Amino acid sequence: MDSKHLVVAVDGPSGSGKSSVSRAAASALGIGYLDTGAMYRAVTWWCLEEGVDLDDRDAVAQATRDIPLQMGTDPTTPSVRVSGREIEDDIRTTRVSEVVSKVATNTLVRPLLQQLQRDLIDRIATETGGVVAEGRDITTVVAPDADVRVLLTASVEARLRRRSKELHGHDADHAVEATRDQIVRRDADDSTVSEFTQAAEGVHLVDTSDLDFEQSIEALLDVVRREAPAK
Ligand code: DC
Repeated sequence: MDSKHLVVAVDGPSGSGKSSVSRAAASALGIGYLDTGAMYRAVTWWCLEEGVDLDDRDAVAQATRDIPLQMGTDPTTPSVRVSGREIEDDIRTTRVSEVVSKVATNTLVRPLLQQLQRDLIDRIATETGGVVAEGRDITTVVAPDADVRVLLTASVEARLRRRSKELHGHDADHAVEATRDQIVRRDADDSTVSEFTQAAEGVHLVDTSDLDFEQSIEALLDVVRREAPAK
């Protein structure tokens, strides 16, 4: 890892607020941003477009090698391009969300994307003076030597309320219940990737269950200021 530039690694489960908080923190710090989940989503989208069978592990790995993927690095303008086509919205659809865990649990794909992520982190850090990279295995596998490593968690109830607001526009009881299955299933699908309740050694745990958006950003920035005051 480049010692001159600030590298912040953030992991956490879906609904922890990880992406929006990481993006806002990168903006506040004036550095670049990498959403590694978007890379698994982009490969999934590309396989669906190209008719690659997601259960064919070798074919999906080959698609991962071939994909003409360009990841945006500006935290204020999320962008994912494949062959020049902007797919930032396409990769967030249920069509992709429902099957992305097939790609994320493909052990032939993971090392390919992890290496790509290491290269991108180095490049973004060099070009923009630093990077906040977020995902599931950034603090442990992709960038274990990052300057700052944070596990952003939230209770299942807090994550349900947030996801319910995203999906239904409110967090009334019936809407929360409608979201419960989805969150519980996503956690189960993702559980082969990593265990999120405990931070690995040297990783700072930030629990956002009782924090609003602004407070969550401040909590993350506090850890950065404490751990990397000189950068
Ligand atoms: O954070 P997200 O929902 O956009 O992630 C999409 C999928 O990719 C989800 O199944 C978790 C997985 N993922 C992963 O396995 N490793 C990462 N570093 C990031 C995401």
